[in-house]
This record gives sequence, structure tokens and C-alpha cells, in this order.
Amino acid sequence: MAEPNAEMRKAWDGPDGDIWAASADQYETRGAGHRRLLLQAAAIASGERVLDLGCGNGASTREAARMAEPGEVVGIDLSTAMLANARVRSAAAGLTNVTFVHGDAQVHDFEPESFDVIISNAGAMFFDDTVAAFTNLRRALRPGGRIALMAWQRLEDNEWLTVLREALAMGRDLPSPVVGMPGPFGLADREQVSALLSDTGFTDVRFGDVREPSVFGATTAEAFALMSDDGPTRGLLEDLSDADKATALDQLRAVIAAHETPSGVIFGSASWLIRARRSRVA
Ligand SMILES: C[S@@+](CC[C@H](N)C(=O)[O-])C[C@H]1O[C@@H](n2cnc3c(N)ncnc32)[C@H](O)[C@@H]1O
Repeated sequence: MAEPNAEMRKAWDGPDGDIWAASADQYETRGAGHRRLLLQAAAIASGERVLDLGCGNGASTREAARMAEPGEVVGIDLSTAMLANARVRSAAAGLTNVTFVHGDAQVHDFEPESFDVIISNAGAMFFDDTVAAFTNLRRALRPGGRIALMAWQRLEDNEWLTVLREALAMGRDLPSPVVGMPGPFGLADREQVSALLSDTGFTDVRFGDVREPSVFGATTAEAFALMSDDGPTRGLLEDLSDADKATALDQLRAVIAAHETPSGVIFGSASWLIRARRSRVA
């Protein structure tokens, strides 16, 4: 049988994860607004047991751990490099109610009905078998337990990626990422996600339309360092000649500079804040 999520494992437990680990502070700053809304929606109470799916460098895990104390929080992720950061940061914060697991949430053997809440900040869009993944997550939740997921809406509503693609297109007609496939837009289609959650034993499915600005860095130089090295950029530069790569990166720097404000380099974004509960009868 083929290894589940083989491509995403290779990317996240490889170059993409390494970049997110190396620039952990910048990515944590960029995700702060989304995390605040996610944790507000999750409404974690003291004593609850929480799973943070795709926890990355662990910022949301640490914030959830403070809300859940003395309850425990488990962070699961594919990236060895980000989990190393997450462990160091959680110990430095003096948290004793957090554990991290290197694993794939789609197939990980969670103890059944062991979590009150599952949260994920942009970590639940990468499954190659969404039915298997959400069935596995539902089993890990106690009946009535809840999930709160932040996930990107469609490409055209996410300026941070449309400007990047335009800057790097260099006359090419770039293929649009397929909604519903593993990647940033895996949960972008509201109807598809609604059906998926109902089919896998969730109820009370709700969508919040989140338009949180995406801050890529304090300055153009900082934002350029991040955006010129991340996964989407590397993919878009791959087939260009060295001269075209240099021009494309100059164009990217210019568009970043045009978005620099006194509060940092800011692009628009659109996410779904997806909430649901495990059916009591499943
Ligand atoms: C866009 S990053 C977000 C990281 C973190 N939640 C944050 O807000 O900074 C997506 C994360 O999901 C993780 N991930 C993707 N697929 C996963 C899976 N099947 N199981 C566990 N983690 C996964 C990746 O390794 C990566 O750390």
C-alpha cells in the first residue's frame, strides 16, 4: 500500500518544514491574528485535553496549554525540524502539560475519545485522504467534542499568494492550485468541507469568514527574505532561467516594498474558521 501523504511528508519533513523552522519567529508573528481568533473560537476550558494538529513550531500549542492547564495538550506534526523548535520553546515557557508527537494525523493511532478539542491553525489542509483523516480525528474526540480549524479560502481571495504568483509568472500562464487537493486550498470549498464533516461524523458545522491581514515582516528586507525562500516561491522559480529568476525576484521585492507600511509588510488574506462537534451518535 502506498504511504499516506507521501508527497506532503517529503515537503514538510524536508525543505518546507526546515524553512518554517529557520524562520519560526516570523511565521509566528504572521500567524498571530489567526491564532487569536482560532483559540477564541475553540474556547478551551481549564482541565480540557486538546490536540493541536499540524502544530509546527508550537505557538498555538503553547497558547492552548495555558488555557487548558492542568489539562494536557498534544501537538502533532510531520516536521522533525519544527517539532524540535516546538519542544525547546515549550520548555523555555515552563510548560509541563504539553507533549509533541512526530506523526501523520491522518493515520496516527490516537487513543479513542481521548480529546475534548482539536485545533489547527493552517495544518489540516494537506491530507490525501480527507475521509480517512477526518474519520480518524473524529474517533480521537470524545462524543460532543469539538474541532476548530483555520484554513485558507480560495486563491483569488488571498492577496499574499496572488501577488507572489503575478510577480513570479514571467509571462507564463500558471496553473491554478486545485481546490480540495492536499495543499493550501485543501479545505477552501465550503460545500465540500461541509459534506466531508457531515459524512465523517461531525455535526453543527459552522464557517466564519476571516479576513485577517497577513504580516510577512517588519520591513521589505525581512519580508523578502521570507517570501523569496518559501515553498510556493521555490516551485514557481524552478523552471526559470537564472536571468528570469533574477528579474522575477526583483519584481517580488518591488511588490513587497509597495505593501510596506509602518506596521510591517501587509497583504490581504481570507480564511475559513471551521467549527464542528463530534456527533454523539456516530
Ligand atoms: C502551514 S504550516 C502551519 C504550522 C502552524 N500550525 C502555524 O500556524 O505556524 C502546516 C503544518 O501542518 C503540518 N502537517 C501537514 N500535514 C500534516 C499531517 N498529515 N499530520 C500532521 N501534521 C501535518 C506541517 O508539517 C506544517 O507544520
